[in-house]
Amino acid sequence: MRRNKRLSGEKAYSILTVDDSPIMTSALSDYFQRSGYEVDTENDPVAAIEKVRNGNYDILLLDFMMTPICGDKVIEEIRKFNKDIYIILLTGHKSMAPPLKTLRELDIQGYYEKSERFDQLELLVESCVKSLKQLKTIREYQEELNKAYETMNDNYMEMIHAMRLLVDARDVYTRGHSDRVAALAVKIARRMGMSEEDVRQIRLAGLFHDIGKVGVPDGVLLKAGKLTDEEFDVIKQHPEKGEKILEALSFFKSVAPVVRSHHERIDGKGYPDGLKGEEIPLESRVITIADAFDAMTSDRHYRKSKSVKEAVSEIEKNRGTQFDQKIADIFLKIVQETGTEDLDKYFK
Ligand SMILES: [Fe+2]
Ligand SMILES: [Fe+2]
Repeated sequence: MRRNKRLSGEKAYSILTVDDSPIMTSALSDYFQRSGYEVDTENDPVAAIEKVRNGNYDILLLDFMMTPICGDKVIEEIRKFNKDIYIILLTGHKSMAPPLKTLRELDIQGYYEKSERFDQLELLVESCVKSLKQLKTIREYQEELNKAYETMNDNYMEMIHAMRLLVDARDVYTRGHSDRVAALAVKIARRMGMSEEDVRQIRLAGLFHDIGKVGVPDGVLLKAGKLTDEEFDVIKQHPEKGEKILEALSFFKSVAPVVRSHHERIDGKGYPDGLKGEEIPLESRVITIADAFDAMTSDRHYRKSKSVKEAVSEIEKNRGTQFDQKIADIFLKIVQETGTEDLDKYFK
């Protein structure tokens, strides 16, 4: 008894057999139908192209010598719109076969010299079926992977959103500060020619640079008057607190050191580690400038905002002491292009 290619619940593989001899197509059709395949036949090579275009075949058994066009021409046309169908080229007598070079150049999976018996052809078809099954499995895995990636990405975006709300919830006066710092820092980073991955890190670091403030008591964070030294010391803990929070989340781990160092100064007088110059992570040096610019141009509960011009000249004045000279220069170039009229432009 012939094996059936249709396993339970599985669709039968479909074959289109194309030959200008109806005797040949009907012999092939009988043979492969008995083997459990779905078989369709076509005796006109031009009509066969349209059949492939409109049908859903897995395997094409294609005669080479046909009129008005030969098998190689049919393949050429089919490959313009279908790269998936497996093609086995059938030739009559050896002397009529296309040269090996032509066969190699054709995008086909097999080549078969016609004979009375089709068992060798059946083996070729079976190996196509095996590849098709493997391909299907690979595609299914790929789809699952893509779905898993999408879910992960959704979770990630949700977490970012939740954390942003958390940062903003603490202090109405600084609401939007993190978004603005992230936007400006990204602008500077792009201008510096950073890679897209580094820019992504900068954006995250900008969004969460002050997340450690969730650990600062309201009495200190929201105090209207001048802070005492002790209170200021508490505020100064926010970069380390932020680092701890971000370190706990694998998604954000890589930006934790950037956040730790966002209040360092080039001259070593910053906190928490008193790092100098290039000891400070590059990303932190970018965030520092964006952070200072936004802080100066926003109203805070303890002071009024500076104008764009005043804030810019403050950054210019402190190049090489508080701010990285080169990064500050890049920021100043952005200022030249953006002008000082419209503050919002810096965060777009
Ligand atoms: Fe900060
Ligand atoms: Fe900040």
